[in-house]
Parts: sequence; structure tokens; C-alpha cells
Amino acid sequence: MIKPILRITGLVLATFISVPAVAQTKALLDSNTRFHPVISSTGMVVSQEILASQVGADILAKGGNAIDAAVATGFALAVTLPRAGNLGGGGFMMVHLAEENKTIAIDYREMAPADAFKDMFLNTEGDVDNLKARFSIQSSGVPGTVAGLIHAQENYGKLSLKQVIRPAINLARNGIPVSISLAESLASRSGRLQKDAATKKYFFKEDGADYEAGEVIRQRDLAATLGRISAKGAPGFYQGKTAALIVDQMESTGGLISLADLKGYKAIERTPVCGDYRDNKVCAMPPPSSGGVHMVQMLNILEGWDLQALGHNSADYIHRLVESMRRAYADRSLYLGDPDFFPVPVAQLTDKKYAAALRQQIDLDHASRSEDIRPGLVDTAESTETTHYSTWDQWGNVVSNTYTLNFSYGSGISVAGAGFLLNNEMDDFSAKPGSPNGYGLVGGIANSIQPGKRPLSSMTPAIVFNPEGAPILATGSPGGSTIITVVMQMVLNVLEFDMGIAEATAASRIHHQWLPDNIFYESGLSADTLRLMREMGHILNDKPGRLGAAESIHSKGDGVLFGAEDQRRHGSGAVAQP
Ligand code: GLY
Repeated sequence: MIKPILRITGLVLATFISVPAVAQTKALLDSNTRFHPVISSTGMVVSQEILASQVGADILAKGGNAIDAAVATGFALAVTLPRAGNLGGGGFMMVHLAEENKTIAIDYREMAPADAFKDMFLNTEGDVDNLKARFSIQSSGVPGTVAGLIHAQENYGKLSLKQVIRPAINLARNGIPVSISLAESLASRSGRLQKDAATKKYFFKEDGADYEAGEVIRQRDLAATLGRISAKGAPGFYQGKTAALIVDQMESTGGLISLADLKGYKAIERTPVCGDYRDNKVCAMPPPSSGGVHMVQMLNILEGWDLQALGHNSADYIHRLVESMRRAYADRSLYLGDPDFFPVPVAQLTDKKYAAALRQQIDLDHASRSEDIRPGLVDTAESTETTHYSTWDQWGNVVSNTYTLNFSYGSGISVAGAGFLLNNEMDDFSAKPGSPNGYGLVGGIANSIQPGKRPLSSMTPAIVFNPEGAPILATGSPGGSTIITVVMQMVLNVLEFDMGIAEATAASRIHHQWLPDNIFYESGLSADTLRLMREMGHILNDKPGRLGAAESIHSKGDGVLFGAEDQRRHGSGAVAQP
């Protein structure tokens, strides 16, 4: 039986939903009374940039599935969100295929060029040269984004590649209105970005002035590159003119990426890391991401306590979060790296018995000191401009995708003539054991630089399933080292505290990463809570900051979708399929 339009709390559910769905939907609306999600009973796209979300939603309306929408959104973000959307970076895509009831993880992380070597970022004193690791032509790994998006499209999409790239080409060629967020983010980094002539040409006016919000920015070289990809598929990027432009630039400025590196790059399908959290199944990205392993590890530790009874963001709850995070990030420093080069002990780290042993070590009244915690088993200086988006279609296919240039605008160096920025992902390797990278993360041999290796990541695109096996949550976030803990808190807010997706997104977050030994936190925690945390011996950052930007879609498994963009970043948007 079919019911017409449902109108509750001022929201219009503009399509038809079946009666059994209404009770569950009503329950979800009740948990969304103060925070309003976008609702759809067909499909949805949530991303950090609303024009790109609109592109994805339009692709759904044209009969595309969640994978088509994700690929279209990914190419569109390369135009509309140049600080993180990209062709010159890499990422991870989790895909749930409804018909086959199968979930896959596509690894399109950047790769070290064949000429890379272990000590390439050490100076003559043997110390890490951070400028070289982060802002030089050598800081770029071989880009994976185009291979990853095309792999997804060719294997799992319904529409043609041309159809899903066309909106991005139009946006680049015809121009986009500069949003407040884009104007602010370019202006605040103009010193760094204008050092590179091509970046200056692409993202600033002819006289070097900043774009004002509302002005139109056109990216004709990027449109031409997208056109070559549309016409030829992956070879339109990894071979031919685009590859020649990349390699010419590498050869003339001391970069390492060769034609053979580009031609040899492949996206890899991997098995997701999944764990049970109470009755639900939580699946996320396996190595070379550390996200899935450590989110499951932390959830395993936390599952042993009655978190609901402690209360959301109470001092006792945050204490347990922090102590779990501290131990997981200590393990990250030793055991995580590219699984094709290092035997990452995934099964041991995600074992419930190991989690129980770690839980036993935790004093419920006093903070541990990170210097006393060693890997058991066996500072966020630059802004953290990865970006996440989620798509969901009327057939129940779901995509959770996180991709990045690493820092905002990556290395700041654009490929002249090709219109896109290069990543600085080589800094995600451990350039020297014990030396922190741009996110304050330390690592060792598991994540040392080797030719053809993929640097360890924290990106954690995730999909959660209910006890019947239906997908109920797609989520993920930018935020460098904070990604894993932000995504875990999204999962806990929904599963443990029964929050609607908009409230779960708005709720204040905390983060701890073993080293440095302090708690990053957002405004919204009460003064009493902070005092109790200090009394337990925790070290808190001087002032609150901002953690992550989750772009998520939630459902009770009945086809009614609730989406929420993260208001921490201006310009993000949840868009229902029109
Ligand atoms: N570049 C940040 C990460 O992959 O974790």
C-alpha cells in the first residue's frame, strides 16, 4: 500500500513511501526534531560542496546508480572544491552492491614512484626536511583518483563514463561562482599557492588578485583534461597528452614520477575490514588505510562497557574513548603500512580477545600517560583537507568515498597545461622512524618509503549494516589523523546513542592520537566535563578546535534516507534525488 506525502516538523517527504516504512520513518523523524536532515525515499548525495552534490543527485535522476553518482560527484568536486577534490590525488571508495549483497573496498591511494627511496626527505644532518616532504615536486605520489573513479564506473556503474564526466567538464569550462568558502580558502593560502606559476594562473586573477565570492572562476585546462579522460578513459590521464604534461614537468623540475609509473598505476580491490558492534556490522577501509583496523579495534574495546548508561559526552564516556584511542594509535605507529609490502596483523588487531586485554589495562578513574603506552600486540599543524562524500540509490546501492590531495591544495604545485594540483601524499610515509609527519603521526618500518608502495592513510570511508544485513549508514570525514576517531564517534552517535543523522553530525567531538598526549576537543563540552577530565589526569588542548566534516546518509534499512551535511564546513550540501 502506498501513502502520499508525509509532512512532519516542516519537512516534506516529496515522494511516496510504503506504510511499513512509515512507523520507522516517524521514529527517525522523532529523533531528528531539533536537527533537520534532508529526506528522500529514492536517492541522495551528501558532499562537502553543494554544486557537486547536485551533480550526483542529477545523475541519480537520470537513472544512474550510487556508483555513477559517486563518480560524477568525484569528478565535479575536482572542479568545485580544488583544495581537496582532485584528479592529482588519491583515495578510497567503499561500495555496497545491493543485488549481490557484497561490499568491496577500492584502493586508489597514491603510490611512491619507482625512483623514490627510503631517505629521500632527509637532509645532510639526517633530519627530515619537512618543506621537501610537503611542498616540493618530490612530495607527490603517482595519482590514483582517475584510475579509482574509472575502475568503479566501468565495473559497477550503469551509465557511460561520458555521461558522468560531462557535468564536471561543463562546470570547469563554463565556470563556477566562487563560494565564500572557496574565496576564503584561496585567499588565506595565496602566499604559498602563488609561488607556483601554474597554480597562480589557475586560481587567482590575471593580476594575482584574489577572487571575490560571487565572481566566476573558469578552469579551461582542467576542462580539456577532463575531456581527454571522457574520450579515452584512464589512458586519457595515464598516457597521451596528460601524462606527457605531468612527466615534462617532473623532468624539468626534479620530480620523480615517470611515464612508466603513470602507465603502471592500478586501482586495487581489497576486502573491507568488518567488525561486529553489538548486533550491527561496521565495515571500513582496510590497509593501506589504518581507518578500518583501528575503528574496529576501538569499537571492540568500547563494546565492553555500557556507554549509554554513562551518557553521551560525559567525562566517564570521553575517558573511555580517549583511553581506547590512545592504545589504537600506539599500535598504528608500529603495525600499519601498505599490506603489499608489510604483513599488517589485521586479524590480531581486530580480535575481540585483544580488545578485552587492552580494556583490562584501562583504569576507569585515571588517565594513562602516553609515554607509558607502547604498541601493545604484538598535532595537527596544517589544515586537513581531505574530503568525504556518500551516495545512495533507490536500489540500495551505497558508496562511501574519501579522497584527498593530503594538505589543502596538496603540494600547491599544478601541472602546467593540465589544470590540476598535485598531491603531497609522500608526507604520509614515515620519512624517518619516530619523526612526526604533518599530522603529528609517527611511524616506522611498516610505513617507510619504498618504490611502488602506498603511504599509510587514516581515511575511513565506512558503511554500517543492521542485524539483517541491510546498509543503514554511510559516513566518513576529512581531518588527517583525526578521521578515524571522528568516524567512530559518528558510528557511536547513531548506533549507541540513537541520534538522528543531523544531530549525530552536529554533536561535539573529541580526538586523541597517543602522541602528542593531549585531547583535542570541540566547543560544546561543559566546563564541568572538562574539569572532571582534568581531575582524572587528562591533558586537554588550551582551547577547543574543529574536528572533521562528516557527510553522511542514514536509513533504518527501509529505503527512506536521511542525509546531513556537516555545517563545520561552509558550502557543503545534502541533496535528494530530484
Ligand atoms: N592524507 C591524509 C590521510 O590519508 O590520512
